[in-house]
Amino acid sequence: MVKLLTVFGVTGQQGGALVNYILENPALFADFSLRGVTRDATKPAATALRGRGVDIVEADLNIPSTLAKAVAGSHAVFSITNFWEKASVTVEISQGKAIADAAVAAGANQIIWSSLPSVSEMTGGRITSMKHFDSKAEVERYIRTLDIRSMFFMPGWFMQNYSNIMRPRLQGDDGTYVLAQPFESTSQLPLIDIQDTGKFIAPALLDPEYYHGKRFTCATAFYTIDEIADTWTKVTGKKVKLVQPESTDEYTGLTEKQKKEANSAGLLAEYGYYGPTGNDDLAWTLKQIKGKLRTWEEFVRDNEPWFL
Ligand SMILES: NC(=O)c1ccc[n+]([C@@H]2O[C@H](COP(=O)([O-])OP(=O)(O)OC[C@H]3O[C@@H](n4cnc5c(N)ncnc54)[C@H](OP(=O)(O)O)[C@@H]3O)[C@@H](O)[C@H]2O)c1
Repeated sequence: MVKLLTVFGVTGQQGGALVNYILENPALFADFSLRGVTRDATKPAATALRGRGVDIVEADLNIPSTLAKAVAGSHAVFSITNFWEKASVTVEISQGKAIADAAVAAGANQIIWSSLPSVSEMTGGRITSMKHFDSKAEVERYIRTLDIRSMFFMPGWFMQNYSNIMRPRLQGDDGTYVLAQPFESTSQLPLIDIQDTGKFIAPALLDPEYYHGKRFTCATAFYTIDEIADTWTKVTGKKVKLVQPESTDEYTGLTEKQKKEANSAGLLAEYGYYGPTGNDDLAWTLKQIKGKLRTWEEFVRDNEPWFL
């Protein structure tokens, strides 16, 4: 029997990448049909997916009554929220719980939640400002109490962040590009090409029982900030160097709220993005998946030109 996978955030990075992966691997997902959820089915990203055979439905996470129709008949539900749209813990938790409640009410077998670890817990309460981590962890806690198979996709730092708001900027007249980040040069970031989302989610879709309750630590590898900068230098021939801004006003492309978060990001480097078990958790995850993940160097090469 064909199983319906409903994908929230289908017009965005994670949901779009998951649907793309499934459409490109029809043999792997022979038994699955796809539905994508958006607030606006007339968006180009939504109409393009409809043209590729995805059932597109409208629903709004802020209006829980719209979710029943979106998940009706689903075997599995992939759920994400965009914290930054409202930058509100309350909104993100309500949205995440609303999807989970709707999935359970619809009798879905499995929910896959785009989660993150609780930084407050990981740091023993020392860092409480990583709200977008804590709120996702709160939704994960809630899902674990429900009568539904679950899997938790925990994406690392998107390589795509560096394509837009965090792109190094030319500074001074010696041709050096500055990567303005609060991290130490030796701090390690788990980088994921978010286009690889489907590779991490496939195992749980294909074997929901085995992966029930499991967390996937999703990145290609941990890279130091120096390695990230040096790769740009190697690939583009332009000198890229890290500068830790003394004032958060110097962070590029961040909103006021994000600047506050950035202060804590420096402190987070002490614990690691995923906490003390991050390396082992990543190694376990990498053993579960099939297919090659894109390295940072490949991402930089494939996204030329960086600096015109
Ligand atoms: N950037 C990173 O390094 C990183 C790392 C880990 C986790 N994250 C998390 O990733 C999340 C963003 O994910 P993304 O980049 O994949 O998303 P994205 O590309 O920004 O797209 C957001 C998606 O969410 C949908 N959406 C937003 N509000 C909605 C609502 N009220 N009702 C229905 N759908 C709604 C949008 O659909 P429509 O607009 O079409 O309705 C869109 O498809 C954030 O919560 C962030 O904290 C980011």
